[in-house]
Amino acid sequence: MELSRGVLVTGAAGQLGVALCEEFADSAVAGLTRTEWDVSAPPPRELPGVDVVLHTAAWTDVDGAETHPQEAAAVNVGGTQHAAELGAPLVVFSTDYVFDGRKGEPYVESDAPNPLSVYGRTKLEAEAAAGEDAWIARTSWLFGWTSTNFVRTMLRVGAERNEVAVVDDQRGCPTYVGHLAGAVRELLDRPPGVWHLAADGDCSWAEFAEAIFEEAGLVCRVRRIKTEELARPAPRPPYSVLRSERPGAPRLPHWREGLRACLDRLGLESAEAR
Ligand SMILES: NC(=O)c1ccc[n+]([C@@H]2O[C@H](COP(=O)([O-])OP(=O)(O)OC[C@H]3O[C@@H](n4cnc5c(N)ncnc54)[C@H](OP(=O)(O)O)[C@@H]3O)[C@@H](O)[C@H]2O)c1
Repeated sequence: MELSRGVLVTGAAGQLGVALCEEFADSAVAGLTRTEWDVSAPPPRELPGVDVVLHTAAWTDVDGAETHPQEAAAVNVGGTQHAAELGAPLVVFSTDYVFDGRKGEPYVESDAPNPLSVYGRTKLEAEAAAGEDAWIARTSWLFGWTSTNFVRTMLRVGAERNEVAVVDDQRGCPTYVGHLAGAVRELLDRPPGVWHLAADGDCSWAEFAEAIFEEAGLVCRVRRIKTEELARPAPRPPYSVLRSERPGAPRLPHWREGLRACLDRLGLESAEAR
């Protein structure tokens, strides 16, 4: 896609928003934070005309959505409707949490969604609200060098303690926002519709935590626990590995490569490189 008129990124202060603003810095990129456009309200009139809208703004507090379903829907569903009203080609970001995790093998685009949580339901409704001409990029377990995410939390915890309890019965694809942003650029040259864009490989959260400590050279034992021990309000799919069945789907590097890239970005050399 030619990007002569520029790119609009919503949720620009979020971890994916930051990565997309960086990826498209060679085009005129307008990144709007929540202060500049609260997407639960219609778009401000003075927005510039653009070639594409990359809509990342979302209610991402999965547990909080259980007790605030209307607020979560206003941002996720209403916000996507408002982004579609801009009338420009639109990319929206959806989630592995639209699936129930019972399939036991990788989910592809034609698999039937069945979200377990309020968050997952609002994201599925958002897919419909995006319209038939939109790209729906389903991704999973995002991490990057900004915002609160699992990698940054484990780096902090691993530096403070010598043991951490992490769930070992949820499996997915931890996806580095830098790699996802590169795949989004490729996606713009593919037809619209649902696309699964997640890192290659898969792991449990406990395995991911162990890899983070190993790569960062931190000595912290991972005690493997079951999801039910955490008693979180929102149910999570036990298995939500995403793969694409579509010809020409952008391929992302393995999650471990993403982890190394993220640590480099955070200024930490991986233990292997030392
Ligand atoms: N994180 C994941 O593991 C994951 C997995 C699959 C799909 N996704 C999807 O990927 C997209 C990006 O996620 P992310 O990880 O980058 O999330 P994030 O870091 O939580 O960023 C979301 C951004 O949206 C903003 N936002 C929240 N409510 C808003 C509103 N009403 N109006 C405008 N902006 C609002 C937030 O602003 P504040 O900081 O001010 O709240 C934040 O900057 C989302 O659509 C998410 O559902 C995420």
